[in-house]
Amino acid sequence: MADFVFVLKNVLVVSLAMNMCLIWKISVVDVETLAFRWSSWMNMQQKKLHFHGVCFNGDKDDIREKDAHVSTRTQILATTSSGASPDGAKTVVINLDHGDPTMYENFWKQKRAETTVVTPSWYHISYFSDIKNICWFLEPGLMSAITRLHKVVGNAVTEDRHFVVGTGSSQLYQAALYAVSPHNASGPMNVVSAAPFYSSYPLMTDYLKSGLHKWAGDANEFNKQEPYIELVTSPNNPDGFTRQNVVKGDKGILIHDLAYYWPQYTPILVPADYDIMLFTVSKSTGHAGSRIGWALVKDGEIAKKMTTFIEINTIGVSKDSQIRAAKILQAISDSCDHANQTNADTFFDYSYKLMAQRWKQIREAVNKTELFSLPNFPPETCSFSGRNFGQLPAFAWLKCEGEVDDCEKFLRRNKILTRGGKHFGASMKYVRISMLSREHEFKLLTQRLPAITS
Ligand SMILES: Cc1ncc(COP(=O)(O)O)c(C=O)c1O
Repeated sequence: MADFVFVLKNVLVVSLAMNMCLIWKISVVDVETLAFRWSSWMNMQQKKLHFHGVCFNGDKDDIREKDAHVSTRTQILATTSSGASPDGAKTVVINLDHGDPTMYENFWKQKRAETTVVTPSWYHISYFSDIKNICWFLEPGLMSAITRLHKVVGNAVTEDRHFVVGTGSSQLYQAALYAVSPHNASGPMNVVSAAPFYSSYPLMTDYLKSGLHKWAGDANEFNKQEPYIELVTSPNNPDGFTRQNVVKGDKGILIHDLAYYWPQYTPILVPADYDIMLFTVSKSTGHAGSRIGWALVKDGEIAKKMTTFIEINTIGVSKDSQIRAAKILQAISDSCDHANQTNADTFFDYSYKLMAQRWKQIREAVNKTELFSLPNFPPETCSFSGRNFGQLPAFAWLKCEGEVDDCEKFLRRNKILTRGGKHFGASMKYVRISMLSREHEFKLLTQRLPAITS
């Protein structure tokens, strides 16, 4: 019996020691290691669970991202890195691969009273919003909030347009392709955009291997005597430049993606007046999670076909999200209307100042080293704010100068995750870096860039 008690005591002591060891080990593991372990585990479990086709082969030195948009893996890294330790400036992984617009979060926290929506459970039950409208699932309140905001900002013509709401402008992009591609043609319609183009266009165009349309690459190189759809993104993602259509042909249909034609990113020069214009709250107000985009469409038949696409695809768009978006857009217009009576910054003042400050900081960081360069933008006067400034893009299109051929890999070695030029139809000497992250991630970036030597 005494022997048994002795053995039991020993077992308890050893077990206690092992547990203490485990607890200690967990507490000293840094945030980054956890991030990598977690992400690797997630990848093993969820090899196929990703948005817009991210591929990760599990080797942290060889993260192969195939045409990434927003990945489960990168979301996790971004979230985890927010708890950086004091030496986190050197060790933490900074994930600026995707354009998650969290930088406006603090502004919206201050606007709780004006922008909170409370929804009783019996509201928004029906599929239908306005059966007299071509887009029968568009909430009238959202339509008037969009119309008002475009008037206040002066960035788009809304008169004599049909409005189509989408689950993000991503859905509207696909709806527009469906609507303008001939359904009785002998082959799929070519879809082009000038490189560097938004990396999701080729993926979204070819994802379903549709018989209606196919990705045909860089619009600058398109010389077939065939019908085509040209996507004009202005200001452009990834490089931030203002753009016009480039294909010289008369068989083209244009889709203008104006996600960034807002006064925090670019001087507003004239109200945009094109046949099909796409906008989104993701980049205008920063509410990417609400998944609300809108199209302004001249031709009623195209608006009808776009509506049909969304009807077949998702039977409409969340009313809760539309009403939330409407409330936020109205609050922005209200604050612009009252700007002279209050000293408070409007959303566009706040976001412009933040973008201007970030661009100043990233330029200072890049100027401290010979390794990188950034594009320059000539200043112009914004008709909305009266300010004279050059573009302040949502992404930094960074070039690795000198010997470095693969800038994405080079930065990854320095624990900065970006999206390399090949995803945008451009050279791997370039990467796209999100400028829209939370402050601590952006700060780490501007500390780390000038410290990189190899
Ligand atoms: C040019 C462009 N268009 C469309 C989108 C997609 O926007 P949404 O979140 O509304 O689908 C993005 C998002 O990054 C974008 O950069």
